[in-house]
Amino acid sequence: MSRFNGSQNIGDIVSILPKAGEIFKEYNIDFCCGGNRPLADAIREQHLDETAILGKLEKAYEDASKFNSLDIDFRKMTMSELTDYIVETHHNYLKKVLPELGELTTKILRVHGKNHGDVLSRVHRLFHNLKTELEQHLIKEEEILFPMVKDYDKHPTAGLIDSINRVMNETEAEHEAAGDILKELRRITDQYWVPEDGCATYRMTFKKLEELETDLFQHIHLENNILFKTLELKLHNQKM
Ligand SMILES: [Fe+2]
Ligand SMILES: [Fe+2]
Repeated sequence: MSRFNGSQNIGDIVSILPKAGEIFKEYNIDFCCGGNRPLADAIREQHLDETAILGKLEKAYEDASKFNSLDIDFRKMTMSELTDYIVETHHNYLKKVLPELGELTTKILRVHGKNHGDVLSRVHRLFHNLKTELEQHLIKEEEILFPMVKDYDKHPTAGLIDSINRVMNETEAEHEAAGDILKELRRITDQYWVPEDGCATYRMTFKKLEELETDLFQHIHLENNILFKTLELKLHNQKM
């Protein structure tokens, strides 16, 4: 019997098998902000081939078990461990790549704006909006939300609940906004297609934007579908 089926939540599948994120990306299935719904819903709405997708998931799971790459089970981490992992892995990556991409998107607009100004000026604007939003978002998580979550891990008091809840809701809305910008970037670049006269910098910029998309989807998935879900459960139990 197959391990995966359409009634499972998209986010839960990625929690079991991180590589599923790549498969969902290939089919344009939203697994970070739209992760909290059954896979079958997305398949139906987007008219996708369920058997093919489930087959790919199964194969990826078998490969991952062979190479032991299912070792990190984020669901078994404490909230403090998970927030540390997110900062070390995903926030540090963003702090490095956002300034780099800021320069690159400006450079390709300057060099190729004459022939591809329509697309590249929109890429430049959208990316810089995303960059500003994310920089503020990281500060909010690192300076406000994550320290509160860590406090809550140590001393789960009712007083912290409301503050955590409020910031968590804001943060979740910011994830949605970032996800929308990424979708728009992918759409206007025609899936990051590089024209024939595009130079090496043009190609590298689009490649890095695609890597940013992959990383950010996994990052938002860990926060929305694992960290916030754990928090919601704890907050709910505390209120009972
Ligand atoms: Fe984050
Ligand atoms: Fe976040």
